[in-house]
Amino acid sequence: MSRVVVTGRIPEAAVEKLRAEHEVDAWAGPESISREELLRRVAGADGIVSLLTERVDAELLDAAGPQLKVVANVAVGYDNIDVPACAERGVIATNTPGVLTDATADIALSLILMATRRLGEGERLIRSGEAWKWGMFFLLGSSLQGKTLGVVGMGGIGQATARRAKAFGMEIVYQSRSEIDPAIAEELSARRVDLDELLAISDVVSLHCPYGPATHHLIGAEQLAAMKDTAYLVNTARGPIVDEAALAAALRDGGIAGAGLDVYEKEPQVHPGLLGLDNVALLPHLGSATVETRTAMAMLAADNALAVLSGERPATPIR
Ligand code: GLV
Ligand code: GLV
Repeated sequence: MSRVVVTGRIPEAAVEKLRAEHEVDAWAGPESISREELLRRVAGADGIVSLLTERVDAELLDAAGPQLKVVANVAVGYDNIDVPACAERGVIATNTPGVLTDATADIALSLILMATRRLGEGERLIRSGEAWKWGMFFLLGSSLQGKTLGVVGMGGIGQATARRAKAFGMEIVYQSRSEIDPAIAEELSARRVDLDELLAISDVVSLHCPYGPATHHLIGAEQLAAMKDTAYLVNTARGPIVDEAALAAALRDGGIAGAGLDVYEKEPQVHPGLLGLDNVALLPHLGSATVETRTAMAMLAADNALAVLSGERPATPIR
């Protein structure tokens, strides 16, 4: 029997599954665990099931000790984990790709609709109690049909977003480190372009790449200036891929038409320059937030931890 530390609240079914085989210490506080408490609790752990709010770095791995075998992140993004530091210590790190693809693509499409159709603005207007009535030119947005979606990062979530956008009548271009399955490119009539071309021709740019040194501020002042002034930017990936101050300036000055964000550079803080703008839709990191998806993510993370602890290969190791 091994000791597994779960760093925050996850669906009970996953905790039960871990408990059936191991001693489980699951943080159950309403707030995120403090760093101090986490460092104390991981001491002697064989496995850690981590949430994206907890930083898993050399300090934490060393606080756990040399018996630690696995860090199972309950997220597809793993910028909270120092993967090389895990590898150096022989710790296997895993994430949860696949199971949150559709839920996250649904939020990307939601943000595309919110931004282009000014849905948040309309909702705020009604709730404000101000008078309103139908009018030929009242709250006009921008149609999607025949417009171009530029997908930055054509992994599972990028593809699922493209599939939805195609159903809404959009043309798809994408930028990707590697070529995608030709059958999927054909199904989506998707054309691979470089980032410069994507920014220049897209009516909506949607970000689906992982975050890391290579994608820090991938979209900054220069890239926003390269977009059409009628275009929209949507980010459901990770906040720091976008230079938020530059985005606020572009939205304020009419450099682009609008934006939809589910993630923030200094989450949970939102750049104050964005909060007063009507042309940005703001969601509180809801990408994978459905009961079904969160359960599937937690079960996959639990299965990954259980596999490593019994000497087997986990289903979704981080490579
Ligand atoms: C959520 O943001 C995730 O990476 O799973
Ligand atoms: C997400 O599930 C991905 O693989 O991109």
